[in-house]
Amino acid sequence: MRMSDVLRQLRQQHALAGARPRLLERFEAFLPITDATPLISLGEGFTPLVHARTLGRAIGCPQLHLKIEGQNPTGSFKDRGMVLAVAKAMEDGSRALVCASTGNTAASAAAYGAHAGMDVIVVLPRGQVAMGKLLQALAAGARVIAVDGGFDGALRAVRELVHDPDPAHPITLVNSVNPFRLEGQKTAAFEVCEDLGGAPDYLAIPVGNAGNITAYWQGFCEYRAAGLVETAPVMLGFQAEGAAPLVTGRTVADPQTVATAIRIGDPASGARALRARDESGGRIEAVSDEEILDAYRDLARYEGIFCEPASAASVAGVRKLAAEGAIDPGTTIVCVLTGHGLKDPETAKREAISPTLESEPTADGIRRALGW
Ligand code: F0G
Repeated sequence: MRMSDVLRQLRQQHALAGARPRLLERFEAFLPITDATPLISLGEGFTPLVHARTLGRAIGCPQLHLKIEGQNPTGSFKDRGMVLAVAKAMEDGSRALVCASTGNTAASAAAYGAHAGMDVIVVLPRGQVAMGKLLQALAAGARVIAVDGGFDGALRAVRELVHDPDPAHPITLVNSVNPFRLEGQKTAAFEVCEDLGGAPDYLAIPVGNAGNITAYWQGFCEYRAAGLVETAPVMLGFQAEGAAPLVTGRTVADPQTVATAIRIGDPASGARALRARDESGGRIEAVSDEEILDAYRDLARYEGIFCEPASAASVAGVRKLAAEGAIDPGTTIVCVLTGHGLKDPETAKREAISPTLESEPTADGIRRALGW
C-alpha cells in the first residue's frame, strides 16, 4: 500500500472515531455560549486522570487519582478558563486583554490572546515568577510589566485599570474575577466524573486566589443537579503555609518569598471557596514548603508525573490528612495537579535532580559510571 493510501485510511479511521473534541463544543450545554461565540481551541482540556498506585499505597490511599492539568496547551489548568474568557472577549469585539499573574494566567492569556490576534498585557510581581512561565508570556508577544507589591498589588492595579476605562484603550480583564474563567475551569470537574463514572469521595486541590476550588465545586454541583452524578465530593483545599488566609488563625507571613507554592494574601474568590468547603463538609488547610517539595519529588519518582511545585500541595495535603487518620483509606481521592514541572526549571534543578554521571562514550565507561 502506498503511503498516501495509508494516510487516507488513518484519516478515515480518525474521522470515524471522532476527532479530538473541542472543550467549548463538548460542554456547550453547561457554558454561556451563544451562536456568536467563536469556538476557538488550542487543544485545552481532556487531560488524563491517572491512578497513582505506588504513591497511593505508600500514603495509605490505594484509590488515589491524579488529574494532570499540566497537559493543557500552556501547561496549566488556566487554559480551560482562558479559552472561554478570550472567546467571549472576541464575541464582544474586544481587542486587548490584561491580567495580573504569578505566571500561569499570564502564559495562558498570552497564548490565547496571540491566537485571537489581540494585544496582551500581563502585570507580574517582580522576582516571583518562575522562568518557564515568564518565557511563555514573552514568546507569545505579550507586553510584560513587573511591579513591586506581590500578586495582590498587581491584581489591585489591573482591577483599577479596567474599573476606570480609557476609551482610547479598551481592554478586557482575564483574571478569575472575569466570570467566564471559572465557567471554563469547572469543566475539569465534569471530566473527573466522566472518567470515574461518578464523583470521587474527595477532591484535593491547591488554593491560591481560590478560583479553581470554586470552579470545581460549581462543576460537581451542576453535574449533580443535572442528574449526571448522584453525589459531590468533599472538597479539600491546601494553601502554602505563610500565606494561608483561608485557614483560621494563619496570616500572611511573607508574601514576598519566591514562590514554591502560590502565595496570595487576599484571595479574590475567598468567600466562595469557604462556601465550597462548608457545603461539601470539607476543609482548607495549610501545608509547608517542605511537605510540598516532598510530594513534588515523590510524584516524579514514583509515578513519573512531573508537576510544578505549587501543584504538589494537593498531594502533600492528602498525605498529611491520611497520616492523621482523617481520610478513610477505602475512599476515592482525586488530587488536582495544576501545572507542569517544566514551568519552574530552577526549583527542579535545586530540589529534584540527582547529579549527572560522567563517562567516555564506551560500554565499559558506562558500566564503570554505574558502578557495575
Ligand atoms: N496552582 C497553580 C500552578 C497556579 O498557577 C495557581 C494560580 C493555583 C494553583 C491556584 O489557583 O488561584 O484558582 O486558587 N495561579 C495564578 C496565576 C494566581 O496568576 O497564574 P487559584
